[in-house]
Amino acid sequence: MNTTEGRVPTSPASPGGARVRIFDTTLRDGEQSPGCSMSPQQKLVMARALDELGVDVIETGFPASSQSDREAAAMIAKELRRPTLCVLSRCLPTDIEASVRALEGAANPRLHLFLSTSPLHREHKLRMSKQQVLDSIAASVAQARALVDDVEFSAEDGIRTERDFLAEACAAAIVNGAGTINVPDTLGYTTPQEIRALFEFLIGTVPGARGVIFSAHCHNDLGMAVANSLAAIEGGARQVECTVNGIGERAGNCAMEELVMALKVRNAWFEADTGIDTQRLLPASQLLTRLIGMPVQRNKAIVGANAFAHESGIHQHGMLRHRGTYEIMRPEDVGWPDSQMVLGRHSGRAAVAHRLRALGYALEDEQLDRVFADFKALCEQQRVIDDGDLEALMHGTDAYEGGRGQGFRLASMTVSDRGQRASAQVELSDPDGKRVSESALGDGPVDALFAALASATGVNLTLESYQVHSVGIGADARGEANLSVRCDDDDGRAYEGTTYEGRGTSRDIIEASALAWLDIANRVLRARRHADADMVAA
Ligand code: KIV
Ligand code: ZN
Repeated sequence: MNTTEGRVPTSPASPGGARVRIFDTTLRDGEQSPGCSMSPQQKLVMARALDELGVDVIETGFPASSQSDREAAAMIAKELRRPTLCVLSRCLPTDIEASVRALEGAANPRLHLFLSTSPLHREHKLRMSKQQVLDSIAASVAQARALVDDVEFSAEDGIRTERDFLAEACAAAIVNGAGTINVPDTLGYTTPQEIRALFEFLIGTVPGARGVIFSAHCHNDLGMAVANSLAAIEGGARQVECTVNGIGERAGNCAMEELVMALKVRNAWFEADTGIDTQRLLPASQLLTRLIGMPVQRNKAIVGANAFAHESGIHQHGMLRHRGTYEIMRPEDVGWPDSQMVLGRHSGRAAVAHRLRALGYALEDEQLDRVFADFKALCEQQRVIDDGDLEALMHGTDAYEGGRGQGFRLASMTVSDRGQRASAQVELSDPDGKRVSESALGDGPVDALFAALASATGVNLTLESYQVHSVGIGADARGEANLSVRCDDDDGRAYEGTTYEGRGTSRDIIEASALAWLDIANRVLRARRHADADMVAA
């Protein structure tokens, strides 16, 4: 299966400076971490997205570790022809054979071998002497090179290895045919200055170093994986191993979206760039979130919901004048449709006026004063004010009905999860004060609860994200539920397909979830009433 077809270019070839190869290990180092496992089919779906992103190398798994990894690697090898496909092996003949079988038919196969080099790992994990480690590297790389042209060697825990011995280990791999030498910071222990100096040392002293690619693989235990990878590039690394959303062992790996955008935004500083289609970063991140069910935090760089959202009055005002005042990159460049002006307690008059203009309301100063005062009052009850709320405010305080006070209210609820399916029963008081009672079954208590609320209110919502966490401490602790839903009423009204966010708090998280759901349903119902009133007026 020797082939050189489609090998990753070895010379810098980019107008942005040196070309840094992106080696994605979402499907191996990412997938092997708690809560991130994927079926072979899911890995194939993710691999297609990585291919579209323009990733140079995709690490598809560790074939010797499981049947599922073997299947995934083989499925991906059959389908993807452009990127280099790589699998991981220990320095063992049987691992290498399993890897070669898993890559059968791949257009651009790479074998990735690893062995620990640090004193701690040599003594306690491997129980091997320095010479045994060097012999094992030499024999395994030679075995792999006899089977595949493209071989990478990783010195596991390389950062905590004696410098001179690490250099010997790299030399042993190079002389036996490895084309890529990876120096992992397996424990996320290094610092930018240290790793930069290490790469400069290795590239400057290891025999044959100038003819191979040096690669960084940084973990995030001290929150420095991206900074360390960038510093390794400054030290001469021309491949970075990273994962989408930074998933990976413990605190994760270097986050691809952050590294790629740092190189793009600060290109003049780093004089290096990647081949990634950055507009596909957000879709890839969101796909991974859906596949593994692990959302990124709101304030995550590049792909978090707050990454291009502005709520404070001063920032919104600046953004409306010139987006460069508070943004260093364009949201469109990473896949977001636009920046988001979140209207809430911290927003100013300028942002409210701007949003109202976008909704078609050009207000005189006096009118705006009135609406802005109502807006501020509503912010005391509600964290985020969406377009539906603004529409309600524009229909005047009578039509607005005092915020959410007049909607459905929760009178009582019972949820049980004992039988094969969970069941929920809710009693609400409707906007006229009448009691409505409904029950429903569901796949879990929350699913049953939301189904019962949907029948009681007549509002159909599709859950996009659901998060609960505790606020406060000790005896004062309360559960807060945050929902993001799509309104899927199919009656063709304007708000159909709109995404709403709602929040509820209670001592009981199931009740908090019901309150968050009703918060949204009441807003949908208000929008419905205004849409009906507008139709009658027209
Ligand atoms: O972190 C690490 O050392 C690794 C190697 C197996 C490359 O993931
Ligand atoms: Zn790792």
